[in-house]
Amino acid sequence: MAIIEIEDIYYTYRDGTEALRGLSLYIGEGEKVALLGPNGAGKSTLLLHLNGINLPRKGKVSVMGREVNRKTEKWVRSQVGLVFQDPDDQVFSSTVWEDVAFGPRNMGLDRREIDRRVSAALEAVGMLEYSRRAPYHLSYGQKKRVAIAGVLAMRPRIIVLDEPMAFLDPRGKDALAGILNSLHGLGQTIVIATHDVDFAAEWADRVVIVKDGKTLAQGGPELLQEAGLMEEAQLRFPVVSKIFSQVPGLDLKPLPLTAGQAVDIIRKLICRKKPD
Ligand SMILES: Nc1ncnc2c1ncn2[C@@H]1O[C@H](COP(=O)(O)OP(=O)(O)OP(=O)(O)O)[C@@H](O)[C@H]1O
Ligand SMILES: [Mg+2]
Repeated sequence: MAIIEIEDIYYTYRDGTEALRGLSLYIGEGEKVALLGPNGAGKSTLLLHLNGINLPRKGKVSVMGREVNRKTEKWVRSQVGLVFQDPDDQVFSSTVWEDVAFGPRNMGLDRREIDRRVSAALEAVGMLEYSRRAPYHLSYGQKKRVAIAGVLAMRPRIIVLDEPMAFLDPRGKDALAGILNSLHGLGQTIVIATHDVDFAAEWADRVVIVKDGKTLAQGGPELLQEAGLMEEAQLRFPVVSKIFSQVPGLDLKPLPLTAGQAVDIIRKLICRKKPD
């Protein structure tokens, strides 16, 4: 079942920039979806449609079968949690704790439940010890973590993250990948815009490639191994696939996409070489 369906949407900014020009896509319930495409492709503009911040000039966005419009936007925001690309657009309260509590408080939860959720979310992103700090004085990566915690604390059914890995340190990226995987294990649908082809290859069930405000392609992560498509989308091959495509005489089909698949292939090659 499609949990999100976007049908032929157009969006024009006030200055006349046509950011989306007939974009369509489909996201299934419980999927992990990576949205890729060059700078200015329309990824952030598209994600702002998923919880009704942007409404299309033409076309239709549906979440769980309901059209996103002014009448449904409040409901949509309770179902879709969006982490913005720039945490300065999202983090505004006087303390980190208050910032993360903002969403759960708006949901009308009681004090104990709010406290439980805020501390669990801050713990998950490694920011609990910063609870009393002013978000304004945090580093960019720390603000990003707080913005992510703010959405986690609302426990939305669909979680949408715009470049969540940007500015996180390697440990922070691994920790976030762990959080996303455990949310996925709980049945949540997760959509991420990213420039990280290797992360998308490892993590995504489906990839959507966007360029010039349109969907160039959508499908399994093996799309990331299509040379012509990667060229057109100004992307590159996942590193694992690239290495195996360059080993002389190996001619593997399909090429591995993930580190785990690469290890399996190497193991088989080593076994084949061993004398009986
Ligand atoms: N507030 C705005 N007003 C006018 N034009 C905008 C605005 N925000 C974005 N745009 C334009 O809309 C187009 C799509 O931008 P968008 O931010 O959605 O791209 P993106 O794919 O998220 O890029 P990036 O990879 O750099 O984050 C670009 O041409 C951009 O310049
Ligand atoms: Mg963007």
